[in-house]
Amino acid sequence: MNIGFVGAGKVGCSIAKLLAQRGKCVSGFYSRSRKSAMEAAEFVGTTYFDDINQLLEVSDVLFLTVPDGAIASVYHSLNPNLLVDKIICHCSGALSTAVFEGIEKWGASAFSVHPFVAISSRYESYQYLPNSIFTLEGKENCPGHKKAMLQLLRDLDLRVEEISGESKVAYHGAAVMASNLMLGLLSVAKKELVAAGFSEEGADAAILSLAEGNLMNAVHAKENPLVSALTGPIQRGDAGTVAGHLQAFSGDTREIYRLLSKEVLQLARAKNPTLDDINLVKLLYEEET
Ligand SMILES: NC(=O)c1ccc[n+]([C@@H]2O[C@H](COP(=O)([O-])OP(=O)(O)OC[C@H]3O[C@@H](n4cnc5c(N)ncnc54)[C@H](OP(=O)(O)O)[C@@H]3O)[C@@H](O)[C@H]2O)c1
Repeated sequence: MNIGFVGAGKVGCSIAKLLAQRGKCVSGFYSRSRKSAMEAAEFVGTTYFDDINQLLEVSDVLFLTVPDGAIASVYHSLNPNLLVDKIICHCSGALSTAVFEGIEKWGASAFSVHPFVAISSRYESYQYLPNSIFTLEGKENCPGHKKAMLQLLRDLDLRVEEISGESKVAYHGAAVMASNLMLGLLSVAKKELVAAGFSEEGADAAILSLAEGNLMNAVHAKENPLVSALTGPIQRGDAGTVAGHLQAFSGDTREIYRLLSKEVLQLARAKNPTLDDINLVKLLYEEET
């Protein structure tokens, strides 16, 4: 199976290098600039193309590892007559394979293959990809294509989760919650520490060490990590302390605390099915009634 890459950036270089390392055939790179394509080809030990359709012609699988905004136009620049029996992929988290409009009528299969991981370097990140999670979404228009893609990803020691195209946007929003929004939550906590008298540096150090400890407890848990790692007043059923926090906060901070506490209450119930939560429920749901 020959695998080509359009877009010689961080994701293209990283996946291609890993493929080459595992003995797969990388047919080459095409990119917006010839310089990028040449450098990537040298890094991976393959060749570069000045014509995207020449690369398509010699590839069974073509990854469009270009920015999200360029995927549709790059796809439309492919010669439809060369698409028969090919597999076309992109790596966007937010876009589904709906962006490959009409691909079924050309006899090609379409997949979005999203690395659920930050890829920050063209030349270093490939080393950290094994054991990371990739999601696969899409539809085979030729029998065997999906099985071949799953096998290809598993041969790279990637953990693959399959998702539906309809859920792609919500899936991406969830990823944002687990990464960007977690930083937003820590920023809210930091502001409260600074207001309480912490220095900026002291607040950063305090919230990071607390968050790291919690994440490590979850990472090392044998099962049900989010439940196992849970500590704090809600899992103790300590409604008095939670009421104090709600009183101490106002505005968005109070609302964020209250909404997340409702989620934490569900974890606490899973941890302790006999939890006496009547007062917690009153407190956390009072503003909705
Ligand atoms: N980086 C991550 O952490 C990450 C994680 C998950 C998913 N993704 C997804 O992976 C995809 C690629 O992201 P990236 O981080 O690798 O981006 P990137 O490092 O900016 O690389 C994009 C590459 O695409 C090339 N390119 C741009 N427009 C093009 C066009 N019209 N035709 C041909 N080549 C073009 C650029 O070309 P030149 O260098 O030639 O100018 C660049 O090399 C995106 O869909 C992104 O959402 C990224």
